[in-house]
Parts: sequence; C-alpha cells; structure tokens
Amino acid sequence: MAVLIEAGFPVVVLDNFSNSDPSVISRLERITGKTIRCVRADLRDRVALIATLKAHGVTDVIHLAGLKAVGESVSQPIQYYGCNVQGTISLLEAMQETGISRLVFSSSATVYGDPHYLPLDEAHPTSATNPYGRSKLHIEEMLRDVARSAPDWHIVCLRYFNPVGAHPSALIGEEPSGIPNNLMPFVAQVAAGIRPELQIFGGDYPTPDGTGVRDYIHVMDLAEGHLAALRYLVDHPGWEAINLGTGVGYSVLEMVSAFEAASGRAIPCNRVSRRAGDIASCYANPERAQRLLNWHAKRGLEDMCRSTWAWQQERRSLS
Ligand code: UFG
Repeated sequence: MAVLIEAGFPVVVLDNFSNSDPSVISRLERITGKTIRCVRADLRDRVALIATLKAHGVTDVIHLAGLKAVGESVSQPIQYYGCNVQGTISLLEAMQETGISRLVFSSSATVYGDPHYLPLDEAHPTSATNPYGRSKLHIEEMLRDVARSAPDWHIVCLRYFNPVGAHPSALIGEEPSGIPNNLMPFVAQVAAGIRPELQIFGGDYPTPDGTGVRDYIHVMDLAEGHLAALRYLVDHPGWEAINLGTGVGYSVLEMVSAFEAASGRAIPCNRVSRRAGDIASCYANPERAQRLLNWHAKRGLEDMCRSTWAWQQERRSLS
C-alpha cells in the first residue's frame, strides 16, 4: 500500500482485521506522511462493501483478503471456502453493482500443485492438494468466467511465489499469530531467541542439499508487481494469470545461512521428517511478468533477510 500511495494512487483500505492489527494503518501513515482512509468491514458484508466503493469513488480493486494457512484449511474447509470464495463473490457482486470492473487478485503458486516441470510458467496445468489451494483455484476460475461474460471486465490474477522480507522502514512486516507456519518468520524468531531451533522438514529431497527449494520474493518487489498490474489493467480487458517470482530457487539451508549472515546470529537447526504435502522444488518462470507488466524482481536474498531481521527486532518495540 505504501508503494501505491507513493505512486500517487489515492487508497482506501477495507479490512476486517481478522489477521492483522489496526495499528498498521497508523504506521503506514508514518511511512507515507498521508492520512489513510480505512473501513473496518468484512468482505462478505456486501452492503458495507457497496457503500465503501460508492463513498470513496473507487475505480480499481486489489483483492488480498483471504485465509492462507494450508494446515488450517484442511481442518476448517468451510471457513476457508466461506472467507475466500464467498468473500470474492460478494466483492464481484458489489463491483458489478457499482460499475467497477478492474480487479487485481492475489493468487498463489499453490495453484500449480505438484510441479510437472520447472521453472513453472503460467501454462503449467493447475491443480490443488488442499482446501486453501482449491479456494485460490476456484476463485481464479470464477474470475475467468466473469471476464468471459462481458467485455468490460479487466482482471489479473497474480500468482505469488514465497513472499518474505519487510518494508525498509522496519515499521511494517509479517506478524504471524502463534507459531509461524512459514520458514522465514520461524527463522527470524529462532535468531531472536524466541524459539530454540528450526526444524528442517526433510533432508532427502532430490535437490542439491536435500532440503526444499523455493522461489522467495521480497514483499517490496511483490508490492511493485501490484502497481505494475494496476497500470496494465487500464487498457487490457479480459483475464490474465501472471507469476510474481524471481525465477531463482533457494534451499532451506541456503536461506538459513543467508539469515545467519544478515543477523549475525546462529540459527540452531534440527533435521526432521518431511512435512506432509510439501514438494521438493518450486520456482517461477517470471518472463510473462516482464513481458506484460514490464516488471521483474530487483531485490536479492540479502535484502530479504536483512529487512526481515530489522522488522523482527523493531516489531517488539511496536507491540
Ligand atoms: N520449512 C522448514 N521448516 C519450517 C517451515 C518451513 O523446513 O519450520 C521448509 C518447508 O518444508 C519448505 C520451505 O521451508 O521446503 C518453505 O516452506 P514455507 O512454509 O515457508 O512455504 P511453502 O512453500 O510450503 O508454502 C508457501 C505458502 C503457501 C503457498 C505455497 C505455494 O505458505 O501459502 O507457498 O505458493 F501455497
């Protein structure tokens, strides 16, 4: 959002704050020096949505609202389909009602399922292995049908690879509640002494060092990808799916070493068995984003680790 505001876009935030803290808004105001308009509402509240879209004269929507924990989605599928799929239907109805037809949707590389080949391009077949992934896939398919139904829809689905890192101000970043599911926030908490060790899930994958390989992308690059998508949408009707990744994969051990170097802290590790549902390797072919959006990731692993560490240290004084 800071990237959008700095690019001159007047932004309105709509959030139910189910997985975020309202204090983020004042921190964003500190970063941008602007007052941020914010509405506390649930995406499934169509009346509130329509009122917000009308009151603020919204022209474009970036839809990032959704639940995103794979394990939780297996035990709570109704909640996941309700929030993610029903929330999107509600948004589409509100957009239709108010005549707004430009939408950027935050999708995920999870829609590729188990890779048949690497790097993953957008033509790779899609599939899902859990309710979270299926909800993203359902939404993508729903959006494609919507875009086919009338020529005025302009929709881009951005397939995120593994977002990491934080804003350079160290004022905003990822704040997992409870035990982090994802690698980087967990590593940051081990470095900070909050958790005793990192469990490395599997050391026998067919990768150079036996640990899982992923395409980690800096959140600031991801944010710039959204800005590029918004600009693209203006004169491109229809539906597109576009990868947001770097094209480079790093293993868990490479991530740990990079984080140790950035933080100056040792990260004790313990290799345990594979995590159910994990794949060996996943990384993007980012050429389509370059071609259509004129966007590519600029920030490297060092910046990802350094900004995560700065945020990890800062967030404790903010909370
Ligand atoms: N890992 C560990 N220990 C941990 C956490 C993770 O070894 O404590 C390993 C995993 O096994 C994997 C790698 O670190 O090899 C990355 O794991 P993450 O949980 O950070 O990320 P995933 O690639 O499993 O999942 C992410 C998102 C999902 C999304 C998926 C595909 O969290 O929402 O990418 O895009 F579906």
